[in-house]
Amino acid sequence: MSNDGVNTGRRRFLTAATSVVGAAGAVGVAVPFVGSWNPSAKAEAAGAPVKVDISKLEPGQMVVKEWRGKPVYVMRRTDEQVAGLDKVDDFLKDPQSGNAAQQPAYVDPQARSIKPEILVLVGLCTHLGCAPKKRFEVGAADLGGDTWQGGFFCPCHGSKFDLAGRVYKGVPASDNLVVPPYSYESDNVLVIGVDQEAA
Ligand code: FES
Repeated sequence: MSNDGVNTGRRRFLTAATSVVGAAGAVGVAVPFVGSWNPSAKAEAAGAPVKVDISKLEPGQMVVKEWRGKPVYVMRRTDEQVAGLDKVDDFLKDPQSGNAAQQPAYVDPQARSIKPEILVLVGLCTHLGCAPKKRFEVGAADLGGDTWQGGFFCPCHGSKFDLAGRVYKGVPASDNLVVPPYSYESDNVLVIGVDQEAA
């Protein structure tokens, strides 16, 4: 009699355990289906590429686009601004883009761009993520006078970056601004989020 009681109890337990496993299995199968039914939400989370028409961008002008929820600065540098990059190398922490994490391998290490005049940067300070402001005036007294050839100034804690997004010495940020992956679809259309080699 006592054996029967134990067996009955064990049978009940096994039945309950099987039901739980069955329910978990059903949930496990259901989740991937939900994902595949909603491809647009998936693409949004992954961050679709953003096309930018730069045909109307005048020398010295900058526009801000949003990519993956981040501001991206797109600027057409003047010839003088490109030439000015040489003049500030000595005042920078990483003038030749030694930190490979901050830009794709296919950009020039000093100008940090594919074409010399077009600059593409993620507009988030590498210190604590504020948006650096454009300060393009050469020789600004409050930003170092002769050592300043124009660039970006972070108002949160005073980090300074040149017109290639390279960080100055003596400021809280330690890394250059990030250059996102990008490529040219044509002379006047660049695509943020698609690598040059893959284009
Ligand atoms: S967040 Fe830019 S200097 Fe601190």
